[in-house]
Amino acid sequence: MSASSDDNGIDWLQQAVPQSECLSPYVPGKPVAQLLRERGLTDEIPPHVIKLASNENPFGPPPAAMAAIRDAASEVHRYPDGNATALKAVLASHHGVNADQILLGNGSNEVLELLIRSFAGVGDAVIYSQRGFMVYALATIAAGADGVAVPETDGLSHDLDGMAAAVNAQSNVICIANPNNPTGTMHTLVELQRFLDRLPRHLVVIIDEAYGDFVAEELGESIGVLHHPGLVITRTFSKAYGLAGLRVGYAVADAALLAVVNRFREPFNLNLIAQAAAIAALSDRDWVLARAADVVAEQKRLESALAGMGLLLAPCHGNFILIHHPQAAELVSELEGQGMILRSLAPYGMWDAVRITVGLPEENDRLLVLLAGWAE
Ligand SMILES: Cc1ncc(COP(=O)(O)O)c(C=O)c1O
Repeated sequence: MSASSDDNGIDWLQQAVPQSECLSPYVPGKPVAQLLRERGLTDEIPPHVIKLASNENPFGPPPAAMAAIRDAASEVHRYPDGNATALKAVLASHHGVNADQILLGNGSNEVLELLIRSFAGVGDAVIYSQRGFMVYALATIAAGADGVAVPETDGLSHDLDGMAAAVNAQSNVICIANPNNPTGTMHTLVELQRFLDRLPRHLVVIIDEAYGDFVAEELGESIGVLHHPGLVITRTFSKAYGLAGLRVGYAVADAALLAVVNRFREPFNLNLIAQAAAIAALSDRDWVLARAADVVAEQKRLESALAGMGLLLAPCHGNFILIHHPQAAELVSELEGQGMILRSLAPYGMWDAVRITVGLPEENDRLLVLLAGWAE
């Protein structure tokens, strides 16, 4: 009996849509509770486990957001505003666009899935980098479309020329994370505009700026600056805003384009507490940017220490670093045994690379101690 068969002998994979055969679930960073279970540990007593595996912000959200979360809790017996009117209004004013140019989702992950599902189906193609964010490929397969994975130029950077050359009559969507996860590379807005200028006007181009707040000064503002009819810029409250657990992401694009995507959106996809928290977090953007700067300072400290140890793979943009080790799998497993969860990049075919989220200064100190034993 296969894993998809039940006790009645029904194989549910056979009953499902054909593309389900090609899908495997996304593997997230290992939760602390899972590590404790796997290692037979309880969390009542030390060791203190440090998770640096999901590119979360160790400083959490601004205090105003925590207060809004507590206040909103008394309202949870009510449905949320399905249009998230108040949040859209503050985002629209923040970005200098109209409210109908904003699409909200349960994390930017849902926004990406909605966009791909709306514009790509059987017979269509979605173009992304081979080492682009994994969700692009998963959402493409789920939609029944064909994924075109373009190899990176130097093993790490998006090959924008290669992606433009991959466009043909089948292509409907292109996805580019800038900065990219997991490789940490970044393109300038000038490079991106040059790329956009080469594309057919009807192509939906998603520029995923999940890590944009960490590079805000260096990259500059893309909204209102980059131009293409099908341009969609996605952002999230999961990273710099410290609200990963509440799941708030959004897209900024043409209103008519988003009106199509809204047909696919379930009515209450953004929960009531998430809406309140995001509004409050946005009102304290100065706090968020100050913490993002703290994270980047720690990132640079780690990168220079690891380069000194001969372990750095390449400097990254965002809130993570990449290290290189021929025994990457053993390294990850060994550090888990010492209470530190890192992210193997084997699922991206980067067998000798490990992605590490920048933690609190004391967590980063501990990381350096543990990695010292792995320097060759
Ligand atoms: C490049 C990129 N885009 C999108 C996401 C999705 O984030 P969320 O769904 O939490 O907004 C992530 C999460 O790690 C990411 O790395």
